Amino acid sequence: MKGRSDAGSIHLWFGDVREIGPEPPTEPAAGLTPFEHQRWSGLQLAEARSRYLRRHMALRTLLGGWLGVAADQVALSWLPSGKPLADHWQDGRRLAISLASREDQLLLAASWGGQLGVDFEPLRPIPDLNSLAQMALHPAEQRFLARRPTAQRARHFLRLWVRKEAVLKAAGVGLNWDPRQVNVLGSTLRRSGVHVRLAAAETANWFVQDLDLAADHLIAVSTDDQRRPVVVQRWPATAGAEAAPATGRRRLGNARSGLPG
Ligand SMILES: CC(C)(COP(=O)(O)OP(=O)(O)OC[C@H]1O[C@@H](n2cnc3c(N)ncnc32)[C@H](O)[C@@H]1OP(=O)(O)O)[C@@H](O)C(=O)NCCC(=O)NCCS
Repeated sequence: MKGRSDAGSIHLWFGDVREIGPEPPTEPAAGLTPFEHQRWSGLQLAEARSRYLRRHMALRTLLGGWLGVAADQVALSWLPSGKPLADHWQDGRRLAISLASREDQLLLAASWGGQLGVDFEPLRPIPDLNSLAQMALHPAEQRFLARRPTAQRARHFLRLWVRKEAVLKAAGVGLNWDPRQVNVLGSTLRRSGVHVRLAAAETANWFVQDLDLAADHLIAVSTDDQRRPVVVQRWPATAGAEAAPATGRRRLGNARSGLPG
């Protein structure tokens, strides 16, 4: 079975779901979970529904190619919170997955064991940055942002935001947790990742690292333990294409941070 190698690594796919497979059906295909049906039917716009189906078909194609099973054999489920789970196991470790999307772009992460959270944002100007920062950032993060040169603030805000969403997804709480209570600035682990504690009573730390996958996007991945190697998987360009052979993979070196420790 593919996907068995690199135990402990985080595998990442990042690309345009329109490049994978045919046009999505207008109605959910067999194999979608009741949770997905409910989510799909709750979407108002036809475009959003179509994107949801395409994304969730692509998810199965990517994971199936990597695991070496047909797409319809990929066993997924969702917790009521919205956190995705995979019912695939290796040496007693469950396959952890996390995803983020924007329009037709999808970021998918998978690893054996542990918890995972990913997020990405395109680098862009943010006109209402001050009010967004007040709604989304921890007081220490707001002070940090206020000290940055104006021209760099949007990048710093987006960097903090993707770190924050990655941690909240790994923890499975999403934005049900007040993002202003989460400080992802870090203190000592400059450039190699940041330990984050969600609540004072929590004993476990979450760990989040920045990734340089694309120059025009900010990307972060969070785990519930120390930093793990990240393997970038080739994005398949045709329907049912298989994941990259070992030689086609790019292993990321050090995590990069645009923020100080
Ligand atoms: C999780 C959350 C932060 C994602 O934010 P977003 O910027 O809108 O969307 P992203 O593309 O970054 O991430 C969406 C993916 O995160 C995952 N996700 C959703 N809730 C999650 C949670 N609590 N924990 C981990 N992952 C979660 C899902 O797989 C989702 O993709 P899908 O809808 O295609 O299945 C946000 O949706 C949230 O917390 N919402 C509040 C809780 C909520 O409404 N939950 C939905 C219950 S059905």
